[in-house]
Amino acid sequence: MRILVVGNGAREDALSWKLAQSPNCEALFASPGNAGTASRGTNWGVSATDAKRLVERALAEHVGLCVIGPETALAAGVADKMRAAGISTFGAARSAARLESSKIFAKRFMERHEIPTAYFRAVHSLEQGEKALSDWQGAVVVKADGLAAGKGVVVCETPNDARAILRDWYGSAGVPGGGIDVLLEAKLEGREVSVFALLDGRAGVILGAACDYKRAGDGDTGPNTGGMGAYSPPATFPHDLLDHVRERILAPVMAGLEAEGEEYRGALYLGLMWNEEEGASVLEFNARFGDPETQVLMPRFTGDLPLLLKSCADGILDPSTISIGRQACVGVVLATREYPVRSTPVDGLPASIDLPAGCTAFWGTSDVANGRVTSPGGRVLTVSALGDDIESARQRVYGAVRSLGPVVGDRLTFRSDIASEATLR
Ligand code: AMP
Ligand code: GLY
Repeated sequence: MRILVVGNGAREDALSWKLAQSPNCEALFASPGNAGTASRGTNWGVSATDAKRLVERALAEHVGLCVIGPETALAAGVADKMRAAGISTFGAARSAARLESSKIFAKRFMERHEIPTAYFRAVHSLEQGEKALSDWQGAVVVKADGLAAGKGVVVCETPNDARAILRDWYGSAGVPGGGIDVLLEAKLEGREVSVFALLDGRAGVILGAACDYKRAGDGDTGPNTGGMGAYSPPATFPHDLLDHVRERILAPVMAGLEAEGEEYRGALYLGLMWNEEEGASVLEFNARFGDPETQVLMPRFTGDLPLLLKSCADGILDPSTISIGRQACVGVVLATREYPVRSTPVDGLPASIDLPAGCTAFWGTSDVANGRVTSPGGRVLTVSALGDDIESARQRVYGAVRSLGPVVGDRLTFRSDIASEATLR
């Protein structure tokens, strides 16, 4: 099978790494691709949102499976156009990707299909926001409706704090992402976990679960980021977590998609809040795999990824082909020092990085030439390690990260408490 991976993050590098290991992967392409995917196949350099050029090239290269990583490509309709051209595609259609690209759409979908989630109100102006907050009890999470690259959510402890955010957003700052629609949501208490399901248009099967670390600094301090590390499995959750999620969340989601005529073929990311009293509630849907969660799920996956993703794309997913090994995996992100406030470009990093057995490095957005990597900054690398349990995977990954010291110098930084006992959630 000739396979195209759309995107250029460490998530797409991890997918490419696993896809390329299969004897069923005859040729691997990535677009635009990064320094990691260049070592696993051929980068095209065509933007992930340029559906027309991606389709033309995919037809010319006889691509038999297109795997779409980022939400921007889904929202740009790349999956729809690939399918229209007759190419098997793993990635949600633009209409289904609204579960991620519009938070209000997602909440209304959950309301229609009785999927557990926090109380909410949708507002479109400061006036409506003030009205909704006038009788609000307790903490409020203020969310911009559209895709805002992780910058559109503010957790406010009081309605007054939420009012200040709304004044700012409807005033000079503008609503993050550029729209006018804002969601006000009750704050949920509990522990967060990300669950990943694979959908083939009629059935949905859980692939696995992971916990990620969104704040920049140790001890969950500093600004929110795209994710600074992750581990899988979520060791401190009840052993029947996935059964619970399958029954209470995934089943009504699948019924809802069917009732609304959505043929969803791709990954569905369930961002969940868990507490003992109420079980799991949905914080967010993403119409894709997570980053850095994919970098800890792929090393644990022991099946044939091209066949699995192709079966989803073709509507013939066989749940018995999903196999996850017993080992645990911990991933640590190395980012430029001022991330996420500022991106500082780095260059001259070596394209091939030697790591101990059981460890793998996945590149974020980057270019490679003459064996040297240039990155615009931000999340530059994820290093992942397998181990018999979370603790041994953690020891191993930090050993590998520290061994990179002479290579990355003081240009990259990382959290030192990913999956530490104190931060296991
Ligand atoms: P979202 O993009 O909607 O997942 O929100 C980003 C982060 O904000 C989540 O990972 C949570 O940490 C936090 N968050 C969002 N919604 C809520 C909520 N209703 N209650 C508590 N925390 C929330
Ligand atoms: N790790 C969070 C995300 O991929 O959205």
